[in-house]
Amino acid sequence: TNAATFDPGYSSSASCCSAITYIDGDKGTCLYRGYPVHELVEKSHFEEVAYLLMYGEVPAENVRLMFEKQLKSEMLVHERLKNFFTEFLTGAHPMAMLATVVAALSSFFVDPMDLNDAEERELAIIRLIAKMPTIVGMCYKTAVGEPFNYPRMHMSFAENLLYMMFARPLEEYTVDPLHAKIVDAFLILHADHEQNASTSTVRTAGSSRANPYACVAAGITALWGRAHGGANEAVIKMLKEIGDVSGVPDFVQKVKDKKVRLMGFGHRIYKNYDPRAIAMRGLCRQLFEAGTQRDPLFDLAMALEEVALSDDYFVKRKLYPNVDFYSGIVLRAIGIPQEMFTVMFALGRTVGWLSHWKEMIQEQQMKICRPRQLYVGPTERAYISPAEIS
Ligand code: CMC
Repeated sequence: TNAATFDPGYSSSASCCSAITYIDGDKGTCLYRGYPVHELVEKSHFEEVAYLLMYGEVPAENVRLMFEKQLKSEMLVHERLKNFFTEFLTGAHPMAMLATVVAALSSFFVDPMDLNDAEERELAIIRLIAKMPTIVGMCYKTAVGEPFNYPRMHMSFAENLLYMMFARPLEEYTVDPLHAKIVDAFLILHADHEQNASTSTVRTAGSSRANPYACVAAGITALWGRAHGGANEAVIKMLKEIGDVSGVPDFVQKVKDKKVRLMGFGHRIYKNYDPRAIAMRGLCRQLFEAGTQRDPLFDLAMALEEVALSDDYFVKRKLYPNVDFYSGIVLRAIGIPQEMFTVMFALGRTVGWLSHWKEMIQEQQMKICRPRQLYVGPTERAYISPAEIS
């Protein structure tokens, strides 16, 4: 039948049951397995949050140590994976590299994979989470034309990422502990966010029984656009275009005239301040107070936020800063170039994507995703050949 409820963008359809992340958009709260995300940023670290998201509980100390050891043991990638990077043109967007190489991992590990085997699923999850920083490091090194670095056993997830991105042959490199802390917080803040576009994409791909590497590659491509994860890069481009505080009123007018969108503002669910944006702004402050050179774009962003939050256009529509508004400024301050911002988002979100993939299979929520449509095309008619068309 053609009976279907019309719900464009699925703003009022729940597609699954999930026990991973809870958002209260009116209050501006976000909980991972019941824990406020800002509290996890203060008291936990990314590897532990990854465990929490995937298994539902904070691990006991011995379990945490074992989990982290297992992650480290899977960080290396097959040497042949390097070859994929040699064919990208100089200037290729790192998101293109990431999506391609993650999809290619299927060809290294799926042989074929038994999705019904819990152990095989766990191994695939650990492998993918562990290899992501190594692949992200390779994307960056390809973009800047430098040799790849191998992960180091004694370093944390965040430290390894910075090391693999920034260490160079013949140069001393020590990971700045504050930078590692900031990366760790960034990854926690991006780790999950219930049924956003990329996570629903991962679930949709998974519902067809595609392998987890392919599902995450689909998530990466869905994340890429500027309405989703690409917003962090778009915010920095927007701030550069505005130039300085004197450009704010004109820009806000353009937004109100609907010529452009204020990037890093607005959210389908938050009708209040996104708690992740508050945390992200706090990270900017932390960095600048610790002596990192103050970024004029930070002051510009704060001025823009102030004007927007007191303007009727934004108040009426309940548009507040979202996670992406300050995240680019945080990443810039620790030397990560803007082309890598969405890649960094993907690195954190991989944990969420895989937690949802795991939950979907474990809880047997495997009904294939198959939305209906309201058909608005022609009714049945007789064929006319091109020769009959005058
Ligand atoms: N700037 C100006 N106007 C906006 C904005 C914005 N950023 N966001 C929404 N609006 C207006 C929109 O024009 C519409 O107005 P009207 O009712 O007069 O037509 C109203 O607010 C509702 O907008 P919508 O597009 O129906 O809302 P949505 O829930 O479908 O979209 C969104 C959510 C995040 C895509 C949107 O707010 C947006 O495009 N924001 C800018 C991009 C951005 O920052 N994305 C990151 C989202 S958070 C992290 C992530 O997912 O990656």
